[in-house]
Amino acid sequence: MLTELDQIERKALQALESSQDEATLEAWRVAHLGRSSPLMLVFDQLGSLAKDERPIIGRRANEIKRVLEAAYSARSESLRQSALQRSLQSERLDVTLPGRALPVGRLHPATISLRTIIRAFADMGFQVYRSPEVETDDFNFGLLNMPPNHPARDKWDTYYTNMPNTSLRPHTSPGQIHVMRQYAPEPIRAILPGMCYRYEQVSANHETQFNQLEVLAVGRNITFGDLKGTISNFARRMFGENFRTRIRPSYFPFTEPSAEYDFECLLCGGKGCSVCAGTGWLEIGGCGMVHPIVLQNGGYDPEKFSGFAAGLGTERIMMLKHRIEDIRYFWANDMRFLEQF
Ligand code: FA5
Repeated sequence: MLTELDQIERKALQALESSQDEATLEAWRVAHLGRSSPLMLVFDQLGSLAKDERPIIGRRANEIKRVLEAAYSARSESLRQSALQRSLQSERLDVTLPGRALPVGRLHPATISLRTIIRAFADMGFQVYRSPEVETDDFNFGLLNMPPNHPARDKWDTYYTNMPNTSLRPHTSPGQIHVMRQYAPEPIRAILPGMCYRYEQVSANHETQFNQLEVLAVGRNITFGDLKGTISNFARRMFGENFRTRIRPSYFPFTEPSAEYDFECLLCGGKGCSVCAGTGWLEIGGCGMVHPIVLQNGGYDPEKFSGFAAGLGTERIMMLKHRIEDIRYFWANDMRFLEQF
């Protein structure tokens, strides 16, 4: 029986060597110290042994049990330590690494362009005013010398709301009336930036929503020369001394005389492309001397006051500045475009 106990001890200690993780160690504990292990069977058999053999075998079995329990604890501790070392190695933290930068929001390119343009006009002494995006028919057209059924209304393909005679503004010109009524009879040098909406055939330079900037100057001696000077000064501030602009006669019911101005197309260098419709020039806006009826509607006496007004498409200016070949990029919400600004 003693030899058998020696074998039980040797086998158990050998088996312990090969347990490499918690699972195999637990299996070893069940096999060698559990209720049905060979050692426990020896304890079960003690009662059937001869009286003089019993203490000798019992002492030896208890001694082996202590040895195996101690070996088990030591093995368990060593496995725990090596698991800890492994995780310290593999999950090591380098506290000196710089933190991950959080993505920061940025301004929309349309906002950047508005701000750049506003700064150029502010440097020329113009103040910024805001006017509503939803306007009544009167402000959009009537007070701008377009009574109901005036054919020129067709030029502005307007989105009407479900409130009577109310629409999203198709241009920033109604703001002229708001500013004049607020400041008459004081002189005015104002710009009115804002979003406009038109039921439009979308193309490389036409969108259904776009920003305009209305420019308005009213005083006692304002001339067409002031208008031309202001526009060409603005163009030079944006694009440099040698930048070319041109002004051509046109028609708007709220200005007389009226004109349109173009900036040279920087996308094709004047050769003609899809943005400038092959002309080498990009139409930036309309302008003219404020019509006497409009001055009157704003509260100014047209016999004593004159004024000029202009409306610029600000995304088109940004397109020239950054060589953007399609206006649709502005509102397509494509991060690859937006992140470049
Ligand atoms: C007007 O809207 C007039 N209110 C401008 C004006 C103001 C004339 C003051 C006289 C005095 P027009 O529809 O041409 O005019 O638009 C002016 C500019 O807005 C255009 O030259 C263009 O640069 C821009 N624009 C017009 N429609 C669109 C569009 N669908 N998408 C992008 N830009 C546009």
